Amino acid sequence: MIRHVLVASAILAFSAGAAIAQPKIEKGPIKPVAASDAPLMFSTYCAVCHGKEGKGNGPAAAALAKVPADLTRISARNGGKFPDVRVRRYIEGLDEVAAHGTRDMPMWGGLFNALSRDTAQLRVAALADYVKSLQQ
Ligand code: HEC
Repeated sequence: MIRHVLVASAILAFSAGAAIAQPKIEKGPIKPVAASDAPLMFSTYCAVCHGKEGKGNGPAAAALAKVPADLTRISARNGGKFPDVRVRRYIEGLDEVAAHGTRDMPMWGGLFNALSRDTAQLRVAALADYVKSLQQ
């Protein structure tokens, strides 16, 4: 059974082995990339599951119990309106699903806080804005 539970100081990393049919998820220390660089944060923290373009087809997707959401269609799924607050809370890990410990996605609020308390909120907001910019 693949484990993808996180501890506060770790994020998931995907190691591409020769056997592509057997995706393997490994935990690693969270990489401190600039809070001002949203595209870099997305490719560093999110693309492993959601894919470079946010479509939900990252290399680790096959190893997860749930399919990572297609982040380019959040507005489309919400009657054409991007739910800013809900997305921020979701990324942070304050939503109800996270509270009950049943979601596959890491709770980034705590992970970013461990990097630096000063920029954690900034990171979440920048990532939410970036996801907004991906809407189709
Ligand atoms: C370990 C894989 C994984 C990583 C890494 C990950 N996510 Fe997710 N994400 C998921 C999964 C799976 C879901 C679907 C819901 C769930 O957790 O079961 C999801 C759902 C979401 C949603 C909710 C979409 C909706 O329709 O409401 C948002 C927003 C999101 N992710 C943003 C991000 C951002 C931003 C990052 C990077 C900071 C990120 N995710 C990193 C796996 C991941």
